[in-house]
Amino acid sequence: MSHDHHTADATLTNDRAHVFHSWSAQAEISPLPIAGAEGSWMWDFDGNRYLDFSSQLINVNLGHQHPKLVAAIQEAAGRLCTVAPIHADPERSEAARLIAEVAPAGMEKVFFTNGGAEATENAMRMARLHTGKHKILAAYRSYHGATSGSIAATGDPRRWPSEPSVPGIVHFSGPYLYRSSFHAATEAEECERSLAHLDEVVMFEGASTIAAIILEPVVGTNGILVPPPGYLQGVRDLCDRHGIVLIADEVMAGFGRCGEWFSIQRWGVTPDLICFAKGVNSGYVPLGGVILSDAIAETFDHRVYPGGLTYSGHPLACASAVASIGIFREEDVLGQARALGDAIGPALEKIAANHPVVGEVRGLGAFWAIELVRDRETREMLVPYNAAGADAKPMQELLGACRERGVWPFTHFNRLHVTPPLTTSLADLETGLAAIDDALTVVDRYASS
Ligand SMILES: Cc1ncc(COP(=O)(O)O)c(C=O)c1O
Repeated sequence: MSHDHHTADATLTNDRAHVFHSWSAQAEISPLPIAGAEGSWMWDFDGNRYLDFSSQLINVNLGHQHPKLVAAIQEAAGRLCTVAPIHADPERSEAARLIAEVAPAGMEKVFFTNGGAEATENAMRMARLHTGKHKILAAYRSYHGATSGSIAATGDPRRWPSEPSVPGIVHFSGPYLYRSSFHAATEAEECERSLAHLDEVVMFEGASTIAAIILEPVVGTNGILVPPPGYLQGVRDLCDRHGIVLIADEVMAGFGRCGEWFSIQRWGVTPDLICFAKGVNSGYVPLGGVILSDAIAETFDHRVYPGGLTYSGHPLACASAVASIGIFREEDVLGQARALGDAIGPALEKIAANHPVVGEVRGLGAFWAIELVRDRETREMLVPYNAAGADAKPMQELLGACRERGVWPFTHFNRLHVTPPLTTSLADLETGLAAIDDALTVVDRYASS
């Protein structure tokens, strides 16, 4: 018997009975049933509306239900839903051409995946095969996905339950001036010292054993850490000195989030491999991939690449990427992201001035973090690193206060991230930031002023 499953009750009942959720203790969650979304807003079945300041998982860069993107997917579905990766497909060919066009020069080929983890997984495989070396260096305070290799590369507590993980992945500390691992007081010191540290890790591990360094050029979930000037070029130079492949994980920072096609382009640095997903098509259909330098691509001209996926270059997903890149150009979405950055930066500085609980605000484009502390002098985090349960209560209170005020932000550890769709209007931005400003008063009491 058929029944209407588009109700709050049916959605929640079936979810609780049958859906096994990511990253959750199943009996302890109560997901909000979402009835619809448009632009920067989403709403539940009771008509409560929320400004989506997290762009879902920082992937809905064009906002929800962009009419041209929806139409392109509908049209592509009517034409040809799928063909296997062994065939050439018009949508896949065009998506690859367009992605190569926006990538740095000398990166002409694209290997498509279903998402970010498969992208980093394959990038590491390519680097190992290309160099004939094994080890991968990855940063602490990073996230690269939840498959075995990508979670092993991840430099945050999400890796711990999957250990012992695949061998040969070594972590290093990247730049983060506010909580410097190097006792640095300036950006220049942080840059110099974090590069010296990486140099030392390469020396201790042995350059002849290291296939790749993987990093998020602008670190996402782990804090929106914008690198100091010169850092990425320094890593590039180090890689060149030692024959190490530089993998830029642009899954979150790419496709406009930082006001560039790829965040690393802001510093004029060209990596050897770029991982992308999320913003490539705003997640309307699952898609990710790796963009290869010409040199790495040539390695596989006459040697089989030993990796693949049934849905590599899925036509429907690729059609949505083609449409998405077209929309970015027609609507100057990169310009919109930069304009959001110009508005968010000063607004967050004002919010910081209003609230003793704010330790630092930082970011660029539509990619910002508010870092919360108990004490501005000692920089003690509002909640401890990896806090859960009662320890995380202040952040839960803040999240609740935001939602009550109609904003759905992204929170992680002691931070609230402001990461709206790149197409968010300045009026909606102002509404959302005012709500966050107000919500922060709820947690000011935890801070010594
Ligand atoms: C930088 C980065 N890399 C990789 C991933 C993994 O992507 P996915 O969840 O699509 O597998 C993410 C997801 O948040 C990410 O932020």
